[in-house]
Amino acid sequence: MKIVFDLGGSVVMPSTPNPEKIKSFGEVFKKIKDMGHDIAIVVGGGKTARDYINLARELNSNESICDILGIYATRMNALLLSLTLGEYGYKNIPSNFAEAELILNLGKIPVMGGTHPGHTTDAVAAGLAEYIDADLLVVGTNVDGVYDKDPRKYKDAKKIEKLSFSELVELSINASLKAGSSSVIDPLAAKIIERAKIKTVVIKGEPEEILNVGKGKINGTIIE
Ligand code: UTP
Repeated sequence: MKIVFDLGGSVVMPSTPNPEKIKSFGEVFKKIKDMGHDIAIVVGGGKTARDYINLARELNSNESICDILGIYATRMNALLLSLTLGEYGYKNIPSNFAEAELILNLGKIPVMGGTHPGHTTDAVAAGLAEYIDADLLVVGTNVDGVYDKDPRKYKDAKKIEKLSFSELVELSINASLKAGSSSVIDPLAAKIIERAKIKTVVIKGEPEEILNVGKGKINGTIIE
């Protein structure tokens, strides 16, 4: 299978980054590649992105410059993750889909960060999945799927097992487009997933759950 993984920056790089944790992501991705899957990874900017975006706002930056700072942070995270991929790693972080596909065709694992202002790495991952005709897009977040309300705030939040493409678009449409915003999935990503009909799963972005996807087991929300 051809799979694109979309990992939130805070999943790979929490407030206190842990090199062992980053390595464990790399180990899992190498295993999935060795199972015969073609994979590409897109990583978010996490705390680094938000810190720089907040500082820039204090300096009266417009949103576009805030986004560009966010993109730099995503690319730093991408390069760190790429270091853990051994012979599958590639030291150049692609800035567009064609470069990423070229790296994939070399038998390596391309790891991308952001591309342009105005969206998040969710949209990059969806765009890459469409461009390379991926069979599956895997969104790894801090929670184990899509809920009807934020499960970190509401105890009675219910997990949604299945969503249609149009339901995903509906759910994402009110998300803020401001730099550094966080939502289940960004609205542009949802629209790309809908138009390209990319089977998408939202799972907890932990190494063991990522490995489960490689084995065909999905514990999360399925969008199709
Ligand atoms: P993300 O929002 O994708 O990273 O990028 P994150 O915060 O780690 O993701 P989640 O919330 O955990 O899923 C950080 C910021 O970088 C800018 C945006 O401002 C975004 O909020 N960015 C990122 C872009 O402008 N363009 C891109 O292609 C990617």
